[in-house]
Amino acid sequence: MKVISTISELRTALKGINKIALVPTMGNLHEGHLALVRKAKKCADCVVVSIYVNPLQFLPNEDFNQYPRTLSEDCKLLQNLDVDIAFVPDDKILFPVKQKILVLLPPVADQFEGKFRPGFFRGVATIVLKLFNIIQPDIALFGKKDYQQLHIIRLMVQQLDLPIEILDEEIIRASDGLALSSRNRYLNDIQRIEACHLYQTLNTVKTDIQAGQNRFASLEENAVRVLKTRGWSVDYIAVLNQVSLIPAHPEDKALVVLAAARIGQTRLIDNIEILKS
Ligand code: PAJ
Repeated sequence: MKVISTISELRTALKGINKIALVPTMGNLHEGHLALVRKAKKCADCVVVSIYVNPLQFLPNEDFNQYPRTLSEDCKLLQNLDVDIAFVPDDKILFPVKQKILVLLPPVADQFEGKFRPGFFRGVATIVLKLFNIIQPDIALFGKKDYQQLHIIRLMVQQLDLPIEILDEEIIRASDGLALSSRNRYLNDIQRIEACHLYQTLNTVKTDIQAGQNRFASLEENAVRVLKTRGWSVDYIAVLNQVSLIPAHPEDKALVVLAAARIGQTRLIDNIEILKS
């Protein structure tokens, strides 16, 4: 595996390659990321994994400085999966001057994650577009763990006519159901045990909907109450149409419930897809 940090070296390494797959990450890799890499290996001649903690997607009060940076462990994991290139640029490479051109996103980016983290998706879309332009992949892979992010990247690719196929991957979870995330390492032992209740709560919503309950607002309120009683502070739990990410209509067949909530200082997101018969 080549570990490359400059754009010119990367472009040289990629010259003449037929099918390139990109897996963009912020590092501190776990099985969720590795599932994307395994899928990428199956569909391309050359797999590039980018590792970059993108300052544009953190608010001033967020964990940018604390965010775990584990480059040498990450490279070992990628090497074991036979990744072709780890692209590990630093700030000076990606932002030699202050970034003044940003991607303008539709209103869906101001809801849910975007409402609680203003500017987050603009930062994500801008870095992803830069990575797409630098690497020019044929395929790029994103996890359903960040469901709204995946939705927005797909919209960007459609509306900016980017010649890139977006593939997704299911959420990889720990045995108790907690979705794997680099931020799980902020949890102490007691919080880690509690953390699986976010997924359990989503599962209860799913069971209720599949049993025919279609008063979604009251299901959302119930789920918030359950988590609050357990000591969580909840940003949102929203039952949405899977395709549009607008609030679900009782007739909708494909739904998704998005959730974000905090235990102590640690903010976790999760979601669950629901198909109604
Ligand atoms: P990061 O949080 O490192 O995630 C990189 C990719 O891994 C994303 O597509 C995310 O959805 C996926 N992923 C994370 N945890 C997962 C899990 N448990 N199961 C399945 N997939 C999972 O998302 C970002 O980085 C950044 O916003 C990025 C797109 C790299 C732009 O900076």
